[in-house]
Order: sequence, then structure tokens, then C-alpha cells
Amino acid sequence: MHLQTIRLTNFKNYESAKLDFSAQINCFLGNNGSGKTNLLDAIYYLSLTKSSTSSQDAQCILHNQPLFALKGEFSKDAKAREVICGLQIGKKKLVKLDQKPYKKASEHVGKFPVVLIAPNDTDVIRGASDQRRKFFDAIISQVDQIYLQTLIQYNHLIKQRNSLLKRFAETGQTDLELLEPFNAQLLELGSKLFEKRSAFIEDFKVLVTSHYQNLTNSAEIIELNYESHFQEDVNALLAENLQKDIILKRSNVGIHKDEFHFVMNGEAIKKFGSQGQQKSYLIALKLAHFDFTEKQTGMKPILLLDDIFDKLDDLRISKLMEMVASDAFGQIFITDARPERTIGLLADDSHEVELFKVENGQVKSWM
Ligand SMILES: Nc1ncnc2c1ncn2[C@@H]1O[C@H](COP(=O)(O)OP(=O)(O)O)[C@@H](O)[C@H]1O
Ligand SMILES: [Mg+2]
Repeated sequence: MHLQTIRLTNFKNYESAKLDFSAQINCFLGNNGSGKTNLLDAIYYLSLTKSSTSSQDAQCILHNQPLFALKGEFSKDAKAREVICGLQIGKKKLVKLDQKPYKKASEHVGKFPVVLIAPNDTDVIRGASDQRRKFFDAIISQVDQIYLQTLIQYNHLIKQRNSLLKRFAETGQTDLELLEPFNAQLLELGSKLFEKRSAFIEDFKVLVTSHYQNLTNSAEIIELNYESHFQEDVNALLAENLQKDIILKRSNVGIHKDEFHFVMNGEAIKKFGSQGQQKSYLIALKLAHFDFTEKQTGMKPILLLDDIFDKLDDLRISKLMEMVASDAFGQIFITDARPERTIGLLADDSHEVELFKVENGQVKSWM
């Protein structure tokens, strides 16, 4: 599976652009602020029907324009597939596969998987627990539509349950009968998600460990541990936390409080890992994401590498380039503000490489 062409209309700082890609390696080269990351984001959007950097879809529309549109032509199983994503201000976002609109944009997720490695990704390691939940949810969702739809239902349920708690708090009246169906749903959907997260982590941690060892040549013992209320008696926890829920007006028990612990030599890498160890752990997580998706779907995800040469030291870069050379990956997109570096790194590579020069929302072929 790979992306053959992309067309951007009023997407971020691009008024209009059309690009033809190599099925192997593509590089976007240009100064900071020129629009390199925005191109990766357009590809990400066509895969996941959302931006990796803008939390609101409307932020993707070129300033002072009424809409944006993205069109991607993919090749998958030797067939051409066309994906269109668009948003008009004030309207529902549109996602189409081969001219046919989806009822829900989320149904598209997983058909053209991507893995993005970007500079601010260390939030997954250093940030709060919701960052880690989002990270793993995105990985599982790309290979499991049922998981994604259950998760959307669950999140909706928690919002509704929180509104009810707020009402209890405001009226001073707690009606347990009203809460009952919400608790039942929380248990039902939550336990489904818990089973899937547990099974996923069992497989995933093996991949993370092996990539970490390979990246660092080290003897550090790393772990990835999963902690959930669903490992305990959830019913009892719900009852115990009822008063707290009402006082805080939000639900304190459930799958939305799950924790994923990144551990090295028995200690939290978030607190005790060096910057280098944290980076290695992050790259190991991303490469594990790649492997996991390939194992589950039989497709090599499109790999988006945003400014990673800035962020990695020589050992990790050379390990990554070894993997590129060994055909571990499928189609790759790389951004770099220093063209000579990327060109130098790819000089001995036998892959078909397409270089693009990015300048102020305009893209040209390098030559
Ligand atoms: N919706 C938008 N409309 C116009 N410009 C935008 C929009 N969103 C982002 N930009 C602009 O895109 C530029 C950044 O592009 P980016 O792809 O992050 O650059 P690079 O990765 O090359 O450093 C910034 O100048 C920013 O203002
Ligand atoms: Mg950038």
C-alpha cells in the first residue's frame, strides 16, 4: 500500500498543490515554517481523518478561506483507491473512499495505516496519562474498527454520566436509579475495551523490548505495564467512588483512568530516564507500532518521519537507516530543514528517492 499522488486545496499554508510520490522514499526539504510538516499532516489526515497537530478540523483551512479539500490516490492490493477529505466551515466533515461518502469518518480509520514519528512525540513519555491512552488507542484503532467504535461509544457514555453527576451535585439530589443504566454500560463497554487493551499490550511489549535492545545495544531492562480498574472489582470501586464522583462532577472509575507505565530497570522512565533513553524508548514504541500494524493487517504502514534527524543521535540514525536499507519499511516520507544532511544520508541507498523543495506553501521537484 502506498500513496501515489496528493492534491491539497486550501489546506493550512497551501492554496493549491499536487504532488506525485515515489512508492519508496520521499523527502520534503525546506526552511522552518515553509510547510513541510503540513504536507505530512495532509497525508496523516487522509489516513486518520484528522490532523496530527490541529485539534480542530477548522484550523486546517487556509486562513480566510471557506473550505479545505485533500485528495489522495493510493495503491492498495494493486488497485487504485481514491480518498477525499474535506471540510466546509459550518458543515460536517466529508470523507469519501472511491467517491462513496462514509456515514462516519471514523469508519475510514485503518484502511491506509500510517505511523508518524514527530519531535513533540515525547509527550507520550513525559506527559500525563491521557497522552499514553490516546497513543495506544490510536494504534489499536488503526487495526480494529470494533475497538474504535466501542471507544467512541464509551467516551460518549462518560460525557453523559458526567452531566448526570453534575445535575446531582447542582440539585443536591442523588437518584441512584438514574445512574444504574450508565454504570451497567460503563461495565459492559469498559470490560470489552479492557480485554482488548490487555491482549494488545501483551503482544506490543515484546515488540517494544526487542526494538529498544536493537536501537541501543544495551542491557537495560525495559517494561511496559498496564494498570486498570478492571483488574479489580469495578462494581465495588464504582460504589466506593460515588460521593467523590458527585463532588468532582466527573467519573473517577473506568477505562478512561487506565495507566500505562513505561519502566526501565524498575523505575519510571518518565522520571528517571535520561533524554537519550526516553528518545530510544519513544522510537522503540513507534517501530513497535509499525510492526504491530503490519502483523495485524498485512500492510506496511506509511512512515512519516518529521524532523527526526534533528532529534536523534548518530547511533539511532544509523540504526534507522539500516532498517530503511533492509526494506523493513514500505513508503517513507521524511522532512528536513537541512537538505544536504538528508541527501547525504540517502546517498548510498538503493531505493527510489523523490526530493521536493518546499518554500512558503509551494512545493517543487528538487531538480
Ligand atoms: N490554517 C492555516 N492557514 C494558513 N497558514 C497556516 C495554517 N496553519 C498553519 N499555517 C502556517 O504553516 C506554517 C508552518 O508550516 P509547517 O508545515 O509547520 O512548517 P515546517 O514544518 O516546514 O517548519 C506556519 O507559517 C503557519 O502559520
Ligand atoms: Mg515542521
